[in-house]
Amino acid sequence: MKTIDLRSDTVTRPTPEMRAAMMDAPVGDDVFEGDPTVKALEAKVAALFEKEAALFVASGTMGNQISLYTHEHHRGDELICDDEAHIDWYEVGAAAALSGLQLRPIAAPGGIPDPERIAAAIRPPNIHHPVTSIIAVENTHNRAGGVVVPLEIMRLIAALGLENGIKTHLDGARIWNAAAATGVPLSEWGRGFDSISVCFSKGLGAPVGSAVIGTKDFITRARRTRKLFGGGMRQVGILAAACIWAIDHQLPRMADDHRRATTLATSIADIPGIALVPDPPPTNIVVMDIAKTGLTPDQALGQLAKRGALLTPFGPTRIRAVTHRDVDDTDIETAIGAIREVFVKQK
Ligand SMILES: Cc1ncc(COP(=O)(O)O)c(C=O)c1O
Repeated sequence: MKTIDLRSDTVTRPTPEMRAAMMDAPVGDDVFEGDPTVKALEAKVAALFEKEAALFVASGTMGNQISLYTHEHHRGDELICDDEAHIDWYEVGAAAALSGLQLRPIAAPGGIPDPERIAAAIRPPNIHHPVTSIIAVENTHNRAGGVVVPLEIMRLIAALGLENGIKTHLDGARIWNAAAATGVPLSEWGRGFDSISVCFSKGLGAPVGSAVIGTKDFITRARRTRKLFGGGMRQVGILAAACIWAIDHQLPRMADDHRRATTLATSIADIPGIALVPDPPPTNIVVMDIAKTGLTPDQALGQLAKRGALLTPFGPTRIRAVTHRDVDDTDIETAIGAIREVFVKQK
């Protein structure tokens, strides 16, 4: 029985063509800035976002944390993010541990931050208050179920940062999905933001790699932070080649992942007790609240795994399926069959 792995879009394996591109990549020592393939990737990504420069880093977490550290601030300063943000939930407290930043998580119902709430959270000057130094926005939003934060909101938050002298960071691990879902080009999503981090190892399907994007000056300083964090890599063009291949070949077909997520969602939406959050799924993430099915996430996942479909738990009553390059239409049909068998059988 084939296992359909819908746990995350990070589970993809490099294709033979991607591996061939890696084999053929010209390389050099990237700490000496001598790796031509890394340089090519960095230039390509900077151009896609219409920014001056980019820096290849190992992971999305590293991209976020290098960005936060590099923005000027003092220990104890505040970072505003939303209360479901990856930076808050899944980065091991790194903003505090590495950069001395205190998190100020703001409620963002449905994953959409409210610029007015953010504005109200900016600390006025007062000897007792911390200083608000950075505002971070996640787009698309993972814990909210792949929600696209609308462009108008992105613009308002960038403007808020500018007006108040506060740096803005876009956690764009899945910004590719926002562009694919809306048709709005990548360059628009980070417009006005001081830094962006993007991942090549999620929907783009590269085995490893992320990038930090910003001004030349910011990236020069970020390069130094990368060294500080132990992220200076050497003949890493073999990895950058996979990322270039992913941009050229995966980005144009990312809408297929969204279509498959929609097929999955619409084919299970009628199952009594299952609620999709959100409904319909905006991109490649399908979150199901199964509270009313009588099964716990662990029970459901166990039964699904026996039928060859792997999903992840996503809170006390929710499970998550993520579509990606390594699942095709037939796999989605198999997963739908497994889900129907597990949940419809309960009734
Ligand atoms: C929104 C978001 N940001 C950052 C990351 C971190 O990426 P990595 O796992 O490469 O550290 C993730 C990972 O899932 C993510 O979903």
